[in-house]
Amino acid sequence: MILVTGGAGFIGANFVLDWIAQTGEPVVNLDKLSYAGNPENLDALHEDTRHTFVVGDIADRALISSLLERHQIRAIVHFAAESHVDRSIHGPGDFIHTNVVGTFHLLEAVHGYWMLLPPDRKESFRFLHVSTDEVYGSLRPGEPAFTELHRVEPNSPYSASKAASDHLVRAWHHTYGLPVLTTNCSNNYGPFQFPEKLIPLTIVNALAGKLLPIYGDGQQVRDWLYVIDHCRAIACVLQTGRLGETYNIGGWNEQTNLDIVHTICALLDELRPRADGKPYREQITHVADRPGHDRRYAIDARKIEAELGWKPAETFATGIRKTVQWYLDHPAWIEHVQSGAYREWMTQQYRPGVA
Ligand code: NAD
Ligand code: TYD
Repeated sequence: MILVTGGAGFIGANFVLDWIAQTGEPVVNLDKLSYAGNPENLDALHEDTRHTFVVGDIADRALISSLLERHQIRAIVHFAAESHVDRSIHGPGDFIHTNVVGTFHLLEAVHGYWMLLPPDRKESFRFLHVSTDEVYGSLRPGEPAFTELHRVEPNSPYSASKAASDHLVRAWHHTYGLPVLTTNCSNNYGPFQFPEKLIPLTIVNALAGKLLPIYGDGQQVRDWLYVIDHCRAIACVLQTGRLGETYNIGGWNEQTNLDIVHTICALLDELRPRADGKPYREQITHVADRPGHDRRYAIDARKIEAELGWKPAETFATGIRKTVQWYLDHPAWIEHVQSGAYREWMTQQYRPGVA
């Protein structure tokens, strides 16, 4: 059995669903259910005995220890985090609590459990830490994409807290021998992504007839990967990755934010045309830029491709079409995540009249 942390969030839920479908191996899923954790993402596993859902904090060492013992866990995939850059700018405290302190407590609990395992299980045990390309900082146009050897230069409270957690994981390997693996992935998109991030926000706002906010000039570049490709890469690293190594994950798909929003608008024009026949791109509006906004991220994925044979299955064209269609097919999911807390965030971030 494996333990997944943060498995009610966007990537974690996709991972749990895909893992059980692909391998059949049971999962204990520990999630605090912050605003970003949504049990509805796991509805397909309702009454599936291979899925055990536990509400709790990764900083609760006693809880982690008891879960590890009770379920005799053989591997951990650690997704749980505060993940939204804009929220980290408004309130970095939660990011330090979960991403740094939480990862520390998790490592301590896992270390205590792992040390007492019999030799064969100790050797095959794995702790996979899921991280981001944002720890590498920002690239200038024309600069080569991030390799695993790139300097760590985080610029936002979010990326700084993720970089700190990467360092802790590395140190628990070098100091205590904990069998860890780290992955640093580029921006994900796909089903179940909370509509505070660019792609789902654009789809949801477009359908609601709201403005589509572009920070600054919209020429910032992100490297987009379909979420299931990320999940398969994680499974691949878990099974065959070399201990203590870091693997960058990305789909060689750099795009400006403005291009992303135009692509979504064009897909919606085709799949769900506006009642007035006008194009959705008319809803685009430029708003104040994000403070410290990283200009460009790009992943060099040659290591995972060459060493482990992983490659993404989706192109951006196929992945974004599936994603837009998924949001069109799930109006109830959208309605449910737009709770009071979400509406409060939207008012704080996009002041009325600004976007
Ligand atoms: P998310 O915000 O959608 O989900 C995070 C989940 O963690 C939520 O279910 C939340 O309830 C849970 N959680 C938060 N604090 C917790 C705590 N203290 N204890 C237990 N559970 C807690 O995030 P996501 O987009 O799914 O990202 C998952 C992981 O992947 C994160 O570590 C993130 O840094 C990393 N990552 C994300 C992206 C991306 O594009 N979204 C890209 C690369 C890496
Ligand atoms: P986001 O989805 O928040 O991911 P990250 O900041 O982790 O890359 O943002 C992706 C890009 O889109 C980023 O450059 C910020 C930009 N953006 C907007 O232009 N408008 C928005 O409303 C949001 C949420 C993001």
